[in-house]
Amino acid sequence: MPRSAIATGLVDYELPVEQMPATLLEYVEHAHLRGGPIPVPAGTRNDPLHAILALLCTREGHDFRCYKKAMLLRRIQRRMGLNRIAAIDDYCQYLRDTPPEIKALAKDLLIGVTEFFREPEAWAVLEEEVLPHLVAAKHPEAPLRVWVTGCATGEEAYSIGMCLLERVANSERNGKLQIFATDIDSHALEIARPGIYPESIASSIAPERLTPFFTRADNSYRVKKELREAVVFAPQNLIADASSRASTSSSAAICSSISSPSCSRRSSRCSISLSTKTAIYSWGSPRPSASN
Ligand SMILES: C[S@@+](CC[C@H](N)C(=O)[O-])C[C@H]1O[C@@H](n2cnc3c(N)ncnc32)[C@H](O)[C@@H]1O
Repeated sequence: MPRSAIATGLVDYELPVEQMPATLLEYVEHAHLRGGPIPVPAGTRNDPLHAILALLCTREGHDFRCYKKAMLLRRIQRRMGLNRIAAIDDYCQYLRDTPPEIKALAKDLLIGVTEFFREPEAWAVLEEEVLPHLVAAKHPEAPLRVWVTGCATGEEAYSIGMCLLERVANSERNGKLQIFATDIDSHALEIARPGIYPESIASSIAPERLTPFFTRADNSYRVKKELREAVVFAPQNLIADASSRASTSSSAAICSSISSPSCSRRSSRCSISLSTKTAIYSWGSPRPSASN
């Protein structure tokens, strides 16, 4: 159990039992859990938030300047709490001196939390009202392409894949099904590609889908070949890489719970080139787990 938790990459502390009480007490005593938001002198090039964003850009290659400021500050404050640092200036210095912390902060800001069929109400609408039209609108011999943006570790892309493969199996379609799944986080994509997930996924996937689409191994489930081969994972930054084959050739783009600015067809901050025939389906906001 502890090993499975650590393997998720979501664990903040790995400690011997005897060190746990003191560390947890220090954590709950930190201002980020007891008080309001951290004060940040805003608007100058010297403000610590500006310096932190510059570090993330130069050292990790992620430009978070157009992400929502409140979200950035909440996540920075959380990292300060985990590192028991009270002042944002000190945290900024800590980041300069501690490269692994820059990686950890970047990971926290991307909020890779996801699930199979996350937000069931949205999935019910997608399955009942959207996918039937999507499949029917395509010529049976033409490829059906769907783009899943900000796919994290792949659960959402495989969920769409299951729904579409079922639909295609019950239709006259011969055209290929292709799901392009992209994310800025290449580590998340490495988890997505082999499609191996902990056995806890059984609580979010109906048994009638689990059996045809997954193979059970020791403590895990592996996505079966047919579904794996329908999904192509690739790195893409929605802000910097405006266009890609996925974005211009897909019939539908799914943009759910992405921590970056909204993904309108052409918003001033997050610009995606989409074919005029591409429908965008978007729901949710990035919701970290309760412990975050
Ligand atoms: C909360 S997860 C959502 C995962 C999935 N869409 C879902 O709803 O279950 C947000 C994902 O958006 C990705 N993301 C954030 N900013 C991005 C950007 N600029 N370009 C591409 N992906 C981004 C993160 O790496 C993360 O994997």
